[in-house]
Amino acid sequence: MIAAQAFNISKVEQSKLKDINLENIPFGKYFSDHMLEVDYQDGEWKTPEIKPYQPLLIAPSISALHYGQAIFEGIKAYKNAKGEAFIFRPHDNFNRFNISAERMQMPVISEEIFMEGMKMLVGLDNNWIPSMENHSLYIRPFMFSTDELLGVRPSDNYKFLIILSPTGPYYHAPMRIHVEEQYVRAVPGGVGYAKAAGNYGAAMHATAEAKKQGYDQVLWTDAFEHKYVQECGVMNVFFIIGDKAITPDLGAGTILGGITRDSVITLLNEKGLTVEERPISILEIMQAHKAGELKEAFGTGTAATISMISELRYKDYMMQFDVNQWLIAPWLKNRLHDIRFGQSPDIYNWMYPV
Ligand code: COI
Repeated sequence: MIAAQAFNISKVEQSKLKDINLENIPFGKYFSDHMLEVDYQDGEWKTPEIKPYQPLLIAPSISALHYGQAIFEGIKAYKNAKGEAFIFRPHDNFNRFNISAERMQMPVISEEIFMEGMKMLVGLDNNWIPSMENHSLYIRPFMFSTDELLGVRPSDNYKFLIILSPTGPYYHAPMRIHVEEQYVRAVPGGVGYAKAAGNYGAAMHATAEAKKQGYDQVLWTDAFEHKYVQECGVMNVFFIIGDKAITPDLGAGTILGGITRDSVITLLNEKGLTVEERPISILEIMQAHKAGELKEAFGTGTAATISMISELRYKDYMMQFDVNQWLIAPWLKNRLHDIRFGQSPDIYNWMYPV
């Protein structure tokens, strides 16, 4: 553990919180009073600073802007009825962050800076954790390369930051999804399993095209046959078929190992459902729908938590669902909510005290 004095801490003179209503707040639009910033130079991480949230001064030539060496994480903090703050499974995000760093040829961050820094920052800004239903404090750790050089090579210098955003629901209604057959998100050997910033930028065109046709998001399919489903927008995806839950497996390296995905698998097992992590084709999904066996379909992610799919369109075939009749997705949502807000015992040790 790094001692608190190993972080340079400077506080705001006056909090901005008084100007912001934390109820019904949009996702990712407002930022708390403080942020953490630390530079990587000469082969090591320097002293981390916790300081007032502020713009960065960066040169126009830094390599992240040109070649995209940039990664991030998404984590959430909650408050229980006693006002105590907890962060949901941050060690898992820490591990995944360093997996992304290795894939993008970036330096790994130490557990002390990531975990202790996050804990100190959330502790300092804990008044920013909303207490309203479906609200939380979204924690965004990220790293990018800062060499001022247009040559294409891994940078020698990096910045790691954590910013905090009080936030409401990502999606307000069940999603309408278009099965994507033209554009791809990830290929085996690529960076699909990493939380690389470019994955999200590269997905925007397909999503915009789907939106023009009235959809909220796309369901990504594999690059070779457009047959096997991968992720749903920025989320992992689950299908309840008969009495089983099926989600694409992580084997091909094309899918992000979601922490909500992993939590949902644990909870589905708790509920007694068989969970299959395996390739699942859109034809299997369509056949299950025709046979009346496709009961539910939903996305899982940190930002969106559990997001139900009300409509899934594959070519000319439309699958529509009355989500009000569903049992599993609402149960998962409530179960996760109760653990996060301290209304059920934390039997899986997911809640990390601040
Ligand atoms: C998250 O769920 O935290 C994500 O990374 C999605 C995000 C890009 C909004």
